[in-house]
Amino acid sequence: MKYQVKNLKSYFNIQDKAINNPEKFWKKIAKEFSWQTKWNQVLDYDMHKAEIKWFDGGELNMSENCIDRHLKLRGDKTAIIFEPNDPKEKEQHISYKQLHEEVSKMANILKGQGVEKGDRVCVYLPMIPELAYTVLACARIGAIHSVVFAGFSANALSSRINDSSCKLVVTADGSYRGDKQIDLKSIVDKALTNCNTVKSVVLVKRTGQKLDFQHGRDLWYHDLKKEVDDHCDPVIVKSEDPLFILYTSGSTGKPKGMVHTTAGYMVYSAYTFKNVFQYEEEDVYWCTADIGWITGHSYIIYGPLLNGATTVMFEGVPSYPNYNRFWEIVEKYGVNQFYTAPTAIRSLAKQDVKFVEQHDLSSLKVLGTVGEPINEEAWNWYYNHVGKEKCPIVDTWWQTETGGIMISPIPFSTPTKATYATFPLPGVQPALMDADGKELEGRLVKGSLCIKFPWPGIARTIWGNHQRYINTYFKQYPGMYFTGDGALRDPAGYYRITGRVDDVIIVSGHNLGTAPIENAINEHSKVAECAIVGYPHEVKGNALYGFITLKKDCSESEQDQLKKEINVLIADSIGPIARLSRIQFSDGLPKTRSGKIMRRILRKIAAGELNDLGDISTLLNPDCVEEIIKNRQ
Ligand code: PRX
Repeated sequence: MKYQVKNLKSYFNIQDKAINNPEKFWKKIAKEFSWQTKWNQVLDYDMHKAEIKWFDGGELNMSENCIDRHLKLRGDKTAIIFEPNDPKEKEQHISYKQLHEEVSKMANILKGQGVEKGDRVCVYLPMIPELAYTVLACARIGAIHSVVFAGFSANALSSRINDSSCKLVVTADGSYRGDKQIDLKSIVDKALTNCNTVKSVVLVKRTGQKLDFQHGRDLWYHDLKKEVDDHCDPVIVKSEDPLFILYTSGSTGKPKGMVHTTAGYMVYSAYTFKNVFQYEEEDVYWCTADIGWITGHSYIIYGPLLNGATTVMFEGVPSYPNYNRFWEIVEKYGVNQFYTAPTAIRSLAKQDVKFVEQHDLSSLKVLGTVGEPINEEAWNWYYNHVGKEKCPIVDTWWQTETGGIMISPIPFSTPTKATYATFPLPGVQPALMDADGKELEGRLVKGSLCIKFPWPGIARTIWGNHQRYINTYFKQYPGMYFTGDGALRDPAGYYRITGRVDDVIIVSGHNLGTAPIENAINEHSKVAECAIVGYPHEVKGNALYGFITLKKDCSESEQDQLKKEINVLIADSIGPIARLSRIQFSDGLPKTRSGKIMRRILRKIAAGELNDLGDISTLLNPDCVEEIIKNRQ
């Protein structure tokens, strides 16, 4: 691929080119793909109106670029290795040729159900090959996929289906996660009682469990598959036609359906994959994320397949049947690049190191992390025990909204430094801003992280609400994209991400907005008000702490019952990932004189930083702070 970084000097050289002439830079990379019609203009943008177009006037098909383009040279090469939850179940090696057939069949199934270009398809599937087939099948016919992580609750699913008026849902009877079996179909049934745009449900048989089959709406995938052709011509779409919607939590209100469009996302996910992982033709690459998140979209499916790579898709969890599972898989397939989350590293580092040492990990060349800041201890453990001090760690900073990796070391070029994401990738122009909205120049500065120039992977809008897109990302620092993260630049120019500066809390790598959790708690008839904050957690990075006031006093045993009920409400409304680790009932919550809850103080209390509460004398009710400290959980 054009502009592949090979050493630090070439990085600086390429970055200069990308900044001095972005259009020429991205155009050269874009030329390597297959286009039906070439673009008229590489970039057209207005960062104030948040209107960004890349390769406008171009026409192409994403699935053709991911699959058909490789058939001649790599038809028999494995595209996807599927490793099932149960290690006793046989794995699957799906070649590019087979992927082409499977995706074509799925595309014909969707077409048969009336799905057309521009229609939204909700995908609520476990990590099985059909998930990849469905996503690519949508791309093949120009439909817009909206993958919802299969750990979300029925309520969360229905609100996402309704927000983008999905026509069809693809799901499975059930899913396996470690020793648990989850009844996906009944979650979908419950969700669909509130969704009237969905006309049909395509059901993949995975667990074989009993279910309530609704004739006229539900259809078995294996039945439909027998009827359809294994050829489906790709539908040509425009560069700026949406490829997918992916929901992400906001600090307030309902989740935001981030819209990614076709050509820019393609170029960006492909280029960043190649550079950040330095993928070579024979390599086996494995990203442990779920395709329900952006990491899975960009770096299990699109980035790797656009590069003709072999990508591993793992259905299970790192602890099942025991904690050597990841390392067993690395050894089994000779994985060369391994990409995971700090929370997984922390939980594995807590186990006996023999789990790692039992396995031959000599195939590993590059290790990656994503999703949250990685602490030094976890970084060192990963570097020493997994990488045997030989594999560079790419600490990749990016977001659902950015489409692809933005700040990351380039292995074998950028010297790594624990906890630093290091340099921006070519074409990325970060800026650190102070509280007055001024850009902080030079080194040794700390501020809010913005990006001051468009890159091809940037989300184009929030589905159905462009104004919210502008307000959330382009208003605070006019003319720039605001990430919601804080960062510092060290004397070498390296960036270190310091964490969110808004009310989003990252728990085990999952973004959670506090407002939707608080809304769920407030639904309880006994709750008067509440505030959720994050506090540092050894494995999860952050955990959730709920401060709750009740309408009337409760006995201790009633309180225990209430805590359970509150977590059930949260799990129903959002999903089990949003459950509170600690709940404290108190008579009042600290408030400003205008009645706003002072979360800053609650955050300090939750973190145990009791000597650092700042001035509390101006509070409306300073007395409650003492009581809260006394009863801290
Ligand atoms: O706070 C940053 C954190 O994760 C947020 C984005 O979350 P999401 O949209 O779910 O995407 C996660 C996968 C790309 C960011 O705003 N984050 C992500 N990567 C890092 C990180 N924080 C520190 N270091 C990272 N490498």
